Amino acid sequence: MELIIADHSGFCFGVSKAMKTIENLVEKKQKAYTLGPIIHNPQEVERLKHFGITAADFYDIKDGNVVIRTHGVGPDVIEQLESRGLNIIDCTCPLVKRVHKLAADISNKGYLTIIIGDHNHPEVEGIKSWCNGDVKVIENVEEAKNFYTNKRVGVVVQTTQTEENVENIIDILQSKLDIAVFHNTRCKATLERQTAAAAVAANVDIMLVIGGKNSSNTKKLAQVCQNVGAKVYHIETATELKKDWFKSTDKVGITAGAST
Ligand code: F3S
Repeated sequence: MELIIADHSGFCFGVSKAMKTIENLVEKKQKAYTLGPIIHNPQEVERLKHFGITAADFYDIKDGNVVIRTHGVGPDVIEQLESRGLNIIDCTCPLVKRVHKLAADISNKGYLTIIIGDHNHPEVEGIKSWCNGDVKVIENVEEAKNFYTNKRVGVVVQTTQTEENVENIIDILQSKLDIAVFHNTRCKATLERQTAAAAVAANVDIMLVIGGKNSSNTKKLAQVCQNVGAKVYHIETATELKKDWFKSTDKVGITAGAST
């Protein structure tokens, strides 16, 4: 059986950077809380627990080190953590920080901020918190069709969105809204991973997409591969593999999400 591993599978630059920071803490035997799971990778989160790196909720963190994950948080969260005397280790991806700045800038100009992204995703919640004025999250084409405002708007994009979703939504918005600025803030790592995965998926019978079942970017990777016609299996660990899947195929593609 031929196995083809798509380029850019696995850790992206932002996650690599965050995980190096975590490994340094582990080496120095320093304990830390992470504000939510450090990455959407349950097996890795579980492993790190044994080294004193524990995922916790905002109100459960009372003292010591607190790691902000790559998704970032709003300024209100940082302020509250600081006021509790916690030592903040900020692993927000620089590309997410850029979106924070652009969203704040749109807001400060008095425009309504539109975020093309997933409702309730931590990255999107963080971006929202950097806006002083009105904010609207648009997740899909249906929502874009149903939304109208006569205000001038500025648009930013959750970093892990698919190109297709962003293009479809922005086309609809441009046809009816007064858009002052549009920053397509999908990150390069996402673009490269999705493009490479789609290219492999188009030439295989089966595509294995490895990554957390709770990982938004992995789910989108699976969706991109499905869109080019591949039979996709989204798995987290090797134990989920089934012999049956491979009975009538000799070509299998593999890709992995940014937290894998
Ligand atoms: Fe950063 Fe893009 Fe990864 S925004 S965390 S490099 S998916």
